Amino acid sequence: MTNPADQQVAHWHGFTQMADHDPLVIESGEGCWLTTKDGQKLFDGVSSLWCNVHGHRHAKLDSAIQNQLNRVAHVTTLGMSCQTTDDLAKRLTELTPGDLGHVFFSSDGSSAVEAALKMSFQYWQQLETPRPNKTRFLALGSAYHGDTTGAVSLGGIKYFHQLFAPILFSPLRGPIPCSYRVPHEINETPLEHYTNEIRVLLEEHHDELAAIVMEPLVQGAAGMITHPPGLLRNIRELCDRYEVLLICDEVATGFGRTGKMFACEHESVTPDILCLGKGLTGGYLPMAATVARPHIFNAFLAPATDSRQFFHGHTFGGNPLAAAAAMASLDLLTKPSFLETVATKGEYLRNRISGILSDHPHVGDIRGRCMMVGIELVADRSSRQPFSSKFQLGRAVCRRTVQNGVWIRPLGDVIILMPPLIATESELDMLATVVAESINAETMVLVEQATEISSDA
Ligand SMILES: Cc1ncc(COP(=O)(O)O)c(C=O)c1O
Repeated sequence: MTNPADQQVAHWHGFTQMADHDPLVIESGEGCWLTTKDGQKLFDGVSSLWCNVHGHRHAKLDSAIQNQLNRVAHVTTLGMSCQTTDDLAKRLTELTPGDLGHVFFSSDGSSAVEAALKMSFQYWQQLETPRPNKTRFLALGSAYHGDTTGAVSLGGIKYFHQLFAPILFSPLRGPIPCSYRVPHEINETPLEHYTNEIRVLLEEHHDELAAIVMEPLVQGAAGMITHPPGLLRNIRELCDRYEVLLICDEVATGFGRTGKMFACEHESVTPDILCLGKGLTGGYLPMAATVARPHIFNAFLAPATDSRQFFHGHTFGGNPLAAAAAMASLDLLTKPSFLETVATKGEYLRNRISGILSDHPHVGDIRGRCMMVGIELVADRSSRQPFSSKFQLGRAVCRRTVQNGVWIRPLGDVIILMPPLIATESELDMLATVVAESINAETMVLVEQATEISSDA
């Protein structure tokens, strides 16, 4: 018989200290709920890493995949195609903002970003009047765009990224456009301040910049850092003025998370290139997409002998099973009033959490958009000083929610809630209550420890 401890070591998990890893092993899922091997039912409060928008075992998605499986499971997109994937590409061009019209498929969000980097670089090299110096990228402070080497180069989260510096390229680094930790010394609005910082960088460096890469509205993995409204639109205008492409990474914000199909729609912005992943297949199968506007696509058109095709392609890009799941997911997302209902639920969740936690002495900020929520825990609300990382408070809170039937995963001391979009109001009530009780209990433990230490001293 296989020893469970051996199995746990055989499977090396990402972003996980394997020396003290005690995984929850999941046996099945249904709707917003997962069942562990031991029979415990857990509410999936982060949609299995932000992607299962319709929850688990949705009949429509299950049957779409089964139907496709009866025809063909995999077809390469290098030299041939599959109708299901072609249909999905067309559908995405209809749903994405503005004239985004050409879909390049890959298998995960990081790869969608890599494709966007290479696409924008190659675009400037082979324009009718080439701009060979446009080889650099601007990324925001605390950016996260994935874990492949190009995506990590864009990354601005020290804890994840700094170690790899010797093997990365250096982007130009913009501000962290955070609405919670705005610099004290400014005498303009946060929107003006962050816009000006980016304007100054573009003024100085536009000749060497291929593109700005950013998550629109909310930087998820940075801890749900929420931008001042209007920033995305201002950056779009700056990109147009200085001839720099805008790449929006909607791997986390896309497919209804912010209450609209895409976050860019909140500010009526069409990026030059849009990166999609996670919720694209309803979180069922690995698939991502890099969607480009015609001026980008057209720069790659030429006789075959000119070698202007996009020099990039993934074995599993455009996989038909994933495409079938994506089509079924989009059918659900585009049902009349589906997204309006999500927007209402997001407001409901926010109100419930704020109602319970907004006066909590260790809740510094409750932020995000719609069904993307971050609750930042701080040692001191007035100075916004964080707790020492030695306490691992975020992890302790999430261990406690698991005991009470809710699976969530923190980012440092920011408690992240990304429930499936189909969660009911009573499930959202339960989520808010369990999270609030766990925050109460764990912050109390810390305060008691601190009191004991100071009275011992
Ligand atoms: C904004 C953003 N971009 C890219 C990625 C990378 O996606 P993947 O993990 O599918 O490679 C993530 C993952 O969390 C993300 O949040």
